Amino acid sequence: EKGGHEYFMLKEIEEQPEALANTLRGHFESGRIILDEQRISDQDLRDVDKVFVVACGSAYHSGLVAKYAIEHWTRLPVEVELASEFRYRDPVLDRDTLVVAVSQSGETADTLEAVRHAREQKARVLAVCNTNGAQIPRESDAVLYTHAGPEIGVASTKAFLAQIAANYLVGLALAQARGTKYPDEVAREFAELEAMPAAVQKVLSTVDQVRDLGRRIADSKAVLFLGRHVGFPVALEGALKLKELAYMHAEGFAAGELKHGPIALIEEGLPVVVVMPSPKGRAVLHSKLVSNISEIQARGARTIVIAEEGDETVRPFADELIEVPAVPTLLQPLVSTVPLQVLAAEIARTRGYDVDKPRNLAKSVTVE
Ligand code: F6R
Repeated sequence: EKGGHEYFMLKEIEEQPEALANTLRGHFESGRIILDEQRISDQDLRDVDKVFVVACGSAYHSGLVAKYAIEHWTRLPVEVELASEFRYRDPVLDRDTLVVAVSQSGETADTLEAVRHAREQKARVLAVCNTNGAQIPRESDAVLYTHAGPEIGVASTKAFLAQIAANYLVGLALAQARGTKYPDEVAREFAELEAMPAAVQKVLSTVDQVRDLGRRIADSKAVLFLGRHVGFPVALEGALKLKELAYMHAEGFAAGELKHGPIALIEEGLPVVVVMPSPKGRAVLHSKLVSNISEIQARGARTIVIAEEGDETVRPFADELIEVPAVPTLLQPLVSTVPLQVLAAEIARTRGYDVDKPRNLAKSVTVE
């Protein structure tokens, strides 16, 4: 049932193209983005003036990724918050606030409590969920289901990629309702999303290279992850995967923060994974990251660089180069996350741990 794989997680990593395709299917019909369930009027959707994304763990990281796209497409302010924090402060919510609750299981206690709190304050709640009929979608005003299929590995992989895609559909639905994107632009963005399963399939050709790298760095005492813009939440996700699976100290940083502290951690041989933006996207982001890599390499770090294929400028600074296909900037997390999932799983396996059932963790966290 593991499809010939040593562990479910690898099977689920390889199912990601399908998870994305299934999540997108049926959501663009007659030129319009459609949700699965919508119990709020189009007018109410149009009146939304602020968005909160609330979630835990990897789902929270999917929200951090989506913030860039939703703000860009809708011109609405988007705050992304850990459900456990959101609930116990006093967030400013009213009927024009849309709270997007992202949860694979749909049963996470903190996220559910955040949903209840939001609804008490009259905010509208939209659930992004992988489990039909779970509690969070039942208590929400609108639902978009991810169709990643059941995820057996405790560490989220295909559900995470599907969450990003679904969050993007929420952004497009809002842009469409508000008219901040013309119908042909929405169609174009959707078509770009539809090209992602093939791009992710291409990344899977790096699995053997990344597993080999994982075996070689498995005895490191820590690994750092750096990214900028949409690469920053990818760095956080890469670090979370490594912590939970390999029980290793791992931290994700915004690359621009290096000089404000984290660079002090760099020492001889320390693996540092850098998530590069496209050289064809915003050149300034790319060149800043290249200079970050050269700085950490000069201090002895072992640089592991996830970069767009054909990015020659980064090559001299990469002790290990993992190439991912060129995709639009906002969609890069869908390709750049994949090698980080494989890396964490393989380091865990090499260290002798159960990749599918990391210690102390449960698949669904139903207590606060
Ligand atoms: C990490 C992981 C967890 C979950 C988190 C939220 O690999 O799986 O961090 O993402 O517990 O779970 P859901 O999405 O079910 O609310």
